[in-house]
Amino acid sequence: MQVRATFIAPSNIAFIKYWGTKDADRVVPHNPSISMTLRNCVSKCTVSYDSSGTADQIFFRDQTGSLSRAEPSFARPVERHLDQLRRRCGTGGSFVVRTENSFPTGAGIASSASGFAALTLAALKALDSSPKNANEASSLARRSGSGSAARSVLGGYVRWPPSSGDPERVEQLAKASHWDLRDVVAIVDESHKGVSSRAGHERAPTSPRFSPRLKDLPERLTRVADAIRKRDIEKLGEVIETEAIDLHHVAMSSRPPIYYWNAGTLETLWTVRSLRRQGIPVYATIDAGPNVHAICPAEVEPAVNDALAALPTVRRTLRDGVGDGPYETSEHLEAPESPELIEPVEPA
Ligand code: PMV
Repeated sequence: MQVRATFIAPSNIAFIKYWGTKDADRVVPHNPSISMTLRNCVSKCTVSYDSSGTADQIFFRDQTGSLSRAEPSFARPVERHLDQLRRRCGTGGSFVVRTENSFPTGAGIASSASGFAALTLAALKALDSSPKNANEASSLARRSGSGSAARSVLGGYVRWPPSSGDPERVEQLAKASHWDLRDVVAIVDESHKGVSSRAGHERAPTSPRFSPRLKDLPERLTRVADAIRKRDIEKLGEVIETEAIDLHHVAMSSRPPIYYWNAGTLETLWTVRSLRRQGIPVYATIDAGPNVHAICPAEVEPAVNDALAALPTVRRTLRDGVGDGPYETSEHLEAPESPELIEPVEPA
């Protein structure tokens, strides 16, 4: 029997970052994180399940627009995740996965969060085993190895783990409609980052800044949750900018150090500060990559976008904002036409 399902899942931008895993296999974080789910930066994933199939096939549509067999570095974690989902459902069979991102992959815009959220939801639907609730969806998505995927199953403003500390649970602090925040992403480098977040999580405890940051986080988490509740951009912005710089301070002082920034990162940071001096409430945050997310209220977004897009080091901007979370669609990604691409590969 063959079944097909397609989901679109958004990326998210962390205001308080998950950085460091207590248990890498179970993806248990050292600290809670809070993020805003995005609207336009999304992954679309079509999964076809064949209960009598024997080999998975993974296709990825890259920035050139062609859907081709994914590189092993991309395909392996996907296959590992499909194995876990098959085991959970006590089934065999095989999957054909077709996936694409609406934004650069592996460049600090959380493509693993959106990609694994979409894959998890589409594969479970194809297996007729959809998660019962957001906690189950979150828990299964993050078992892919991407902790940030735990937050992409919900829309709006999301905390993982919640104050109970249980990493199997996720909490929506506010719906998207509560506060129309925008994220102008200044793309200063589209290429895949040199050091994975996974390596960053492993190295984080080697930094002398790791423990001091953990001590500061309870207060930062409270302030961010409060600022979201009160829709207070100044209060939110001050914390998220400090937090982002602190995270990169940890990364840069890890052993061996990780430098995600380039000259464009700094130029964008300086411009965000200069916009603030002109009275525009905009604040920067940066995930594990060089690209800068400028967070601001809707009314100043055009001015922020114009200023960042004009910078010589900014290749282009992505204009995004808070979104409602993943959804299913009947518009499937179709199979590549070339016959050699649809030949099954032998299992490794
Ligand atoms: O989900 P991962 O393993 O790609 O790690 C995400 C790390 C950050 O993006 C830097 C922070 C976060 O909480 O999203």
